[in-house]
Formats: sequence, structure tokens, C-alpha cells
Amino acid sequence: MKKISIAIDGPASSGKSTVAKILAKKLKYVYCDTGAMYRALTYLALEKNIDFENEKALVELCLAHTISFEQTEKEQLVFVDGVEVTEAIRQPNVTNAVSIVAKHAAVREKMVEMQQEIGQAGGVVMDGRDIGTAVLPDAEVKIFLVASVKERAERRYKENQEKGIATDFETLKKEIEHRDYLDSTREVSPLKQAVDAVKIDTTGMSIDEVVRAIEEIIATNK
Ligand code: CDP
Ligand code: CDP
Repeated sequence: MKKISIAIDGPASSGKSTVAKILAKKLKYVYCDTGAMYRALTYLALEKNIDFENEKALVELCLAHTISFEQTEKEQLVFVDGVEVTEAIRQPNVTNAVSIVAKHAAVREKMVEMQQEIGQAGGVVMDGRDIGTAVLPDAEVKIFLVASVKERAERRYKENQEKGIATDFETLKKEIEHRDYLDSTREVSPLKQAVDAVKIDTTGMSIDEVVRAIEEIIATNK
């Protein structure tokens, strides 16, 4: 069967990476978490004390280091220069700075290049903010996941609780709203539904229900 490309976009905690991972596993496709790439660069900028507004220095950082993935049975591990940073790139210092790093045109150009290389052969489930609009504009299936801010904050809160990370619900909600705002209002490739994407409002939907809804869309594409 022909291997297609599946683009999944949407705001923070809409469920992109969870459902993308499940779909990739079921289809035996490659999963590519593009947010992890922007997070890895932000992690590097913090490590090297690079100003998040310094576009040129951020691109140089991108060129001088290697960001890579390794798929295990359980999860996708992220590496910077061969050192595992999977947990480190999810910490609040990275989360709160990543949208500033990701707004720069030259940074995005480099990232999109890498992502298109990963997606070029098809057989990929890629999630992010601009996959359907900029990275894989010809993807056969494009999904735009949304959910109410309240529900997205609740999901993150629960996830943090399970990991033993103490968080204040209202702060978490404000941070998500702020990141949504930065991601949707930036000039280059803002978070936006592609005209040919199917929107799924996942508020009140379980992970299984979302996966099933996407599988139905994939089936109609064949
Ligand atoms: O998992 P979560 O939704 O919190 O975010 P993520 O997918 O890890 O992405 C982190 C940040 O990277 C987003 O808030 C965007 O600022 C940026 N990003 C982007 O600009 N373009 C993408 N294709 C993916 C992520
Ligand atoms: O990748 P993105 O930031 O869009 O979201 P995620 O990391 O896949 O999902 C955030 C949290 O919401 C995870 O803990 C998921 O298990 C949970 N989730 C959920 O409870 N119900 C859904 N329909 C989708 C995700």
C-alpha cells in the first residue's frame, strides 16, 4: 500500500503528539515531533547563553549542533550532539522561551529543511504548528486538532501531576494562552489551519476517539 504523509497541527496540549505516536505505530510510519526540534534549539540557546532575539546566533547554533531522534518501543528520545535531552527539553525554562526562538524566519527555514528531509519519502506522521501549511503542503491527510483552553490546561496539569511536577493550574492555563497567542500571531508560518485540513474539536474526546476519527479520515483518502 502506498505510504502517505500525515500532517497533524494544533495548539499546545490539543493531543497532537499522543495521537501522532499511536497512528505512526499502527501504520508502521516514522513519527516526527517538530516541536521537539524547536525545543532542542531553545535548550541549546539556554545552555550557551544565546539571546532568544538574536536570529543570526540561533541559526549558527542550529548549524553547529546535531539534533536527532531515536524511536524506542515506548517513546521517542531526543538527542543534542548525541546527548539525550528528552526530559530536559520539556522543562518550564524551555517551554516558556520556545515560542520566541521559533518566531525567527531564518531559524524556521533551517528547521523546515530538516523536517522536509525526514518527510520526503512519505510514510510519516509529523506534528507541529505549520506542517500542513508550510512543511508538508502536499500531505495526503491534514488534521487540525483543537480543544478548549480549560481542557488543554487540565490535560497538562494531570500529566504534570502524574510525573510528580508541582504546577499551579491558573499559571499553566495562562502560559498555554500566551504560547497560543505568540504562535498564532507571529509573521512567519503562524499556527493556522490549512485550507484543506480537517478540524477535530477534541474537547471531551478520549485519545482513542480522536485516533479513530483520524483513522476514518485516512481510510476515506485511500
Ligand atoms: O507539546 P506542545 O504543544 O507544548 O509544544 P511543542 O509541539 O513541543 O512545540 C513547542 C513550541 O515550538 C510551540 O509552542 C511553537 O512555538 C514551536 N513550534 C513551531 O513553531 N512550529 C512547529 N512546527 C512546532 C513547534
Ligand atoms: O502534543 P500536544 O501538545 O498537542 O499534546 P499531547 O502532549 O499529545 O497531549 C497533552 C496531554 O493530554 C497528554 O497527557 C495526553 O495524554 C492528554 N490527552 C487527553 O487527555 N485527551 C486527548 N484527547 C488527547 C490528549
